[in-house]
Amino acid sequence: MSSRLIRFGVSLERELLSRFDSYARERNFPTRSEAIRALIKETLVRKEWLCGGEVAGAIVLVYDHGRREILKRITGVQHRNYGNVISTQHVHLDHDNCLEVVIVKGKPRAVETLYRNLHAIKGIKHISINTGTTGRAIP
Ligand code: NI
Repeated sequence: MSSRLIRFGVSLERELLSRFDSYARERNFPTRSEAIRALIKETLVRKEWLCGGEVAGAIVLVYDHGRREILKRITGVQHRNYGNVISTQHVHLDHDNCLEVVIVKGKPRAVETLYRNLHAIKGIKHISINTGTTGRAIP
C-alpha cells in the first residue's frame, strides 16, 4: 500500500464538528486527521469482522417496556434466531426503561442479520453491537 498522503475536504455541521473536536481532545488525538484516521480504521476492522469465520459479541438495547408490542417483537426476533443467541440479561433501569444485553455467537452475517432485525424494531431508544471475537484466530 502506498504511504502517500492525500488531502481531502470534509463538510460538517458546526455543531457536529465541535462535538468531534471534543471527542478528539478527550481521546488525546493530536490532530483532527489522526482522529479521523482512527475512526476509518475502526470501521474497516468492523467490515473485516463481517467476513470472518465465527464471531461472538454482545448487543445492548435500551427501551421502554410499556411501548406497545415492543417486548413481543424483541423476544420474537431472538427466538427466530435462537441458534445465534447464547443468553440475554435484562435489567429494569427505572420505572419505564429496560436494558437488555444479548450475547451472540455465530457466522458474522447471521449475527449481523440478528442485529439489523433488532435495530428495525420501532421504539428502541438505543441499540449497539460490540463486535467481539471468539478468540480462536488470535494467538
Ligand atoms: Ni425491564
